[in-house]
Amino acid sequence: MTIDASPPILTGLVAPLDKTLFRKSIPLLAARFPVTKIGSLRKTDPIRRSLIDLPRLRSIVPDPSDPSGDKLVLLKVSTEEDLPPQALEFLRNESNGLVPYTLELDYDYWGADEMIQAILPESLRERSPAGFAMTGHIAHINLKEEYLPYKYLIGQIILDKNLQVKTVVNKLDSIDTQFRFFKMELLAGEPNYIVQHHEADCTFTFDFTQVYWNSRLHTEHERLVDLFQPEDVVADVFAGVGPFAIPAARKGCAVLANDLNPQSAKYLAYKSQVGDAVKVSCEDGRTFIRDAAARLIADPLPVFSGPKKSRNQENQERRKGTLAPPPEIPSLPRNKISHFVMNLPDSAIQFLDAFRGVFAHLDKQEVEKVYSEMPMIHCHCFTRETEPEQARKDILERVTEKIGQPLEGYSLHLVRSVAPNKDMYCISFRLPSRVAFNDE
Ligand SMILES: C[S@@+](CC[C@H](N)C(=O)[O-])C[C@H]1O[C@@H](n2cnc3c(N)ncnc32)[C@H](O)[C@@H]1O
Repeated sequence: MTIDASPPILTGLVAPLDKTLFRKSIPLLAARFPVTKIGSLRKTDPIRRSLIDLPRLRSIVPDPSDPSGDKLVLLKVSTEEDLPPQALEFLRNESNGLVPYTLELDYDYWGADEMIQAILPESLRERSPAGFAMTGHIAHINLKEEYLPYKYLIGQIILDKNLQVKTVVNKLDSIDTQFRFFKMELLAGEPNYIVQHHEADCTFTFDFTQVYWNSRLHTEHERLVDLFQPEDVVADVFAGVGPFAIPAARKGCAVLANDLNPQSAKYLAYKSQVGDAVKVSCEDGRTFIRDAAARLIADPLPVFSGPKKSRNQENQERRKGTLAPPPEIPSLPRNKISHFVMNLPDSAIQFLDAFRGVFAHLDKQEVEKVYSEMPMIHCHCFTRETEPEQARKDILERVTEKIGQPLEGYSLHLVRSVAPNKDMYCISFRLPSRVAFNDE
């Protein structure tokens, strides 16, 4: 007693997808029952097991020929002979008759996975290419070569079957070597790439074709922001559109957010709701590292004024009557960088030599007054060593070579595996003062 409710297989279609081709009529047997008997039916064993059980479909429907009369109970067989004897006997005794019923399914009924399987040739059906990630309203997929002939059909199906999706793109293999955003081609929907993406209770607006964004890093963004104290100044060397910078500023930090991509800097400057707590620059990371600390001593950032709540959070607290007045906070000077964030894993280690002698040209006594302790550096990197001990050795060797001194202490965090032989790590260490004051 099973019904084949899968969509018709229609290989060889070309875009645009003709949705009207996806129809299926399934002949069923139905039993008429008065409304008064319907409630107990589902509990009656021989019937319960004979009802159709298809996702998103009701098994008890009005009779189309008499909508206000008996209900039709849809059975998962097309003839009486297919019913178990007990069920047939029960229906003959208790129902007002058995009648044929045609179940009509169309394009709207099936899910994305089933529909994609239905348009693919048999050899490609085993693995589904329907998985996608969302950035704002854009669904992005990464189609393997063999699926490319079907890319527009696949895109259309993903668009139709997911309400929140307005645009579907295929990520192309080429990534912008400098600014790290990937090239993409439109498969379906609006050619609109300016997204509003939400992460950590913040909204990021950016052009997805022009800047780097990776939602898979959200736990890493959160992990580092958790390490910052609200009164800290954070210097984000490769800030992108601000997934560390904006949540940190929301927490109360002042942030120097830098990115060499003018588009990232432009969208960073939107920094909704965090006001002047984020200072944006568009410089090469090496220049930024060399100048940021001295600039901050000369031109401190606004005093710590407490964490900034999101509008959502404020509204919620106002509704509950728990919105407290802003806390009394001492005016702390914001002239010391507590953390450098360096998320450019492909090459961030190469930039570490910029810390050599970073304070050497400044008045040592002045600097020591501000920097009772040196800033922390959080440097992201890739390694091809997948065994943890080898990975540690490899990263440490490259870091010490660049800063020119052994580290006094460090911690290493595995961020994620990016490929079978490539892991992303974050090494965190305090800048050794002999490196910062090295005047060689
Ligand atoms: C991997 S992304 C990280 C962005 C962001 N921090 C994040 O976590 O999503 C690296 C960023 O570094 C920027 N970038 C690349 N080369 C740079 C350089 N030499 N100086 C400053 N920024 C650079 C890119 O434009 C990109 O936005």
